[in-house]
Amino acid sequence: MPDKTTPTDVVELILDDHRRMEDLFRQMRSVEAERADALREFADLLIAHAHAEEAEVYPALRRYRDIDDDEVEHGVEEHEDGNKALLALLEVNDVGSDSWDEKLEKLVEAVSHHTDEEERTILNGARENVAMERREELGTAFTKERDKHIKAGCGSIDSVRRLVKA
Ligand SMILES: [Fe+2]
Ligand SMILES: [Fe+2]
Repeated sequence: MPDKTTPTDVVELILDDHRRMEDLFRQMRSVEAERADALREFADLLIAHAHAEEAEVYPALRRYRDIDDDEVEHGVEEHEDGNKALLALLEVNDVGSDSWDEKLEKLVEAVSHHTDEEERTILNGARENVAMERREELGTAFTKERDKHIKAGCGSIDSVRRLVKA
């Protein structure tokens, strides 16, 4: 069982992942040596995070009358846009090329648009309507699901290709 020092509120956990994604964007823009490693971590995190939201968080939140189903549905569509933009960057061979910069900025745009909207709609809906006890249960389930996908290497180029094709 998580102790009191481990935050398990699903809203905070999702926000922490979004902030980590922003850090990794900065590393992917920075000196070339760091870019490939940062992309590897980012790819696993983005895919695992979205899987865990769709498996454990979105379905639970839909059940609340005051959380808009359309917002949740829209979140899933935006995950797909993020996956496509991620695949385009994974397919760039030279991390120092103009193509890298171009595909990276498209990925930043797609993901930032989604995290911004998710924070304003879905997560605020959760803050206002879901009791902390339930948010903590969802947080535990979210982390478990996310970590399972990260361990399985869900951000590999083959796995992202399969996801985009599906
Ligand atoms: Fe998210
Ligand atoms: Fe999301």
